[in-house]
Amino acid sequence: MNILLIGSGGREHALAWKIKQSPLCDRLVIAPGNPGMDALGECRPVKATDVEGLVAIARDIQADLVVVGPESALAEGIADACAAAGIPCFGPRKRAAQLESSKAFTKDFCKRHAIPTAAYETFDNVPDAREFLKSYQPPYVIKADGLAAGKGVAISPDYQDAVAEVEAMLGGRYGDASQHIVIEEFMTGEEASVFALCDGETALVFGWAQDHKRAFDGDTGPNTGGMGTYSPAPIVTPDLLDITRRDILEPTMKGMKAEGNAYTGVLYAGLMVEAGKPRLVEYNARFGDPECQVLMLRLESDLVPYLLAAAKGNLKDQPVPKWRNDAAVCVVFAAKGYPHSPLTGSVIWGADQDFGDDVTVFHAGTTRGEDGSLRAAGGRVLNVCARGKTIQEARDRAYDAIAKIDWPGGFYRSDIGWRAL
Ligand code: AMP
Ligand code: GLY
Repeated sequence: MNILLIGSGGREHALAWKIKQSPLCDRLVIAPGNPGMDALGECRPVKATDVEGLVAIARDIQADLVVVGPESALAEGIADACAAAGIPCFGPRKRAAQLESSKAFTKDFCKRHAIPTAAYETFDNVPDAREFLKSYQPPYVIKADGLAAGKGVAISPDYQDAVAEVEAMLGGRYGDASQHIVIEEFMTGEEASVFALCDGETALVFGWAQDHKRAFDGDTGPNTGGMGTYSPAPIVTPDLLDITRRDILEPTMKGMKAEGNAYTGVLYAGLMVEAGKPRLVEYNARFGDPECQVLMLRLESDLVPYLLAAAKGNLKDQPVPKWRNDAAVCVVFAAKGYPHSPLTGSVIWGADQDFGDDVTVFHAGTTRGEDGSLRAAGGRVLNVCARGKTIQEARDRAYDAIAKIDWPGGFYRSDIGWRAL
C-alpha cells in the first residue's frame, strides 16, 4: 500500500514509526513531516492545511490511504476532498469534525442524546453571559466555541475574572472562534483520555492514557497542549471503559449517524471521572498528542488494517487490538517560554544517539540548521518516550534518556506519571 500521512508533530512521528513497521506499507509519504521522520518516509513540504496540495500528492503517489494527524487539516475539509477524489481517508468529514471544532455543537449534541457532560449555556453577547454567570458558583468555566489552538478554555476563580474572560472572548480574542462562547458547570474529578476508532457505525476502543496539561511540576503553570503522558492509566478500569462505551461512545456513533453526519476516524474522549463515573469534558476528532505516542509504543497489533477499516467502514470485522503488557511514558521536552512565547533556534545535542530498544525519541518542533545541527523550531520540540514493565520503570528510562540530551534551551516536567505512582 501507498500511504500519505499528514502532519508534523510528535503524534505523526509516532504514527509514521508504527505504520512503517507494517508489512502492508510499501511506500510512506509524509506532508510536511519533520527531521525525525525523514528516515521513515519521504517528507514533502506541503502544509497540513493545504488541502489541494495534499490531494495532489495523494493522487501523485496513488495513495491507498490518507492518514490525517492534526485537527487543522480536518477543519479545512481534507476528508471531504479525499472522498471527492475517491481516496480512502482516515479522519472525519469537516461537518463531523465539529465534535472538536465547535464546543456549542458538541454540547447541543450531548443534550439531544443524553450523553453525560457538564450543564451549560451558549452566548453571543456580554450582558446575557454576565447575567448567567450569577447563577453559577466559582470556579467558572468559559470556552470559546471554535478552535483556539488549545487555549480557548478559561477557568476563572471569581466573578470579576470570569466577566473579563467573557468580554475578551466575545470581544474577539480568538477571532471567529470566540464569537460564541459556552459557559459550563465546573466538574471535579480526575481526567483521562479514551480513544476509539470509528467507521460511522462502530466505535472500537483503541487505548487510553493520561496527559499532564499544565506546564510545570505539580500541575502548576499555564495550560499546554500536553507535557507528558503515560499508558495504561490505572484510573481507566474495565468498568469505566464499559460505561464510557455504553453511555458516551455508542450514543455518539448512533446519534451522529441518525443526524446524517456519520463519524469516522479516531474519536478522542476527554473524560472527567468521579466516583467511577465518566462525564465528557470534550471530544477531539484526532489522536491526542502526546497521548498517541505512548499508545503507538504499546500497540502490538499492526496499525494499518485498523486505519484502513475505519476509513472503509468495516471495523466490526477487526479483532480486538493487542497491546503489550508494558507500560509507556512520554516526557515532552519543550522550548523555554512554551506555551506563551517559546524561544526557537537553540541547538540540541545528543537527540539522535542510540538510547536502547526501550527508548524512542519522537520529534515535533525541530529543524535542521545548514550545518546539520538539530534546532528548536516550535513549542513542544522533542518527546522522549520509553517502555518498561511498570510505569516506574518506563519513567526511569525516559528520564535517564532525557538527561543525556544536551539542550540548554529546553525544559521538561520531572513528575510525569505521578498520579499512577
Ligand atoms: P478542553 O479544551 O475542553 O479539554 O478544556 C481544557 C481543560 O480545561 C480540560 O482538560 C480540563 O482540565 C479543564 N476543563 C474543561 N472543562 C471543564 C469543566 N466543565 N470542569 C472542569 N474542568 C474543565
Ligand atoms: N494532549 C492533548 C491534546 O492532544 O489535545
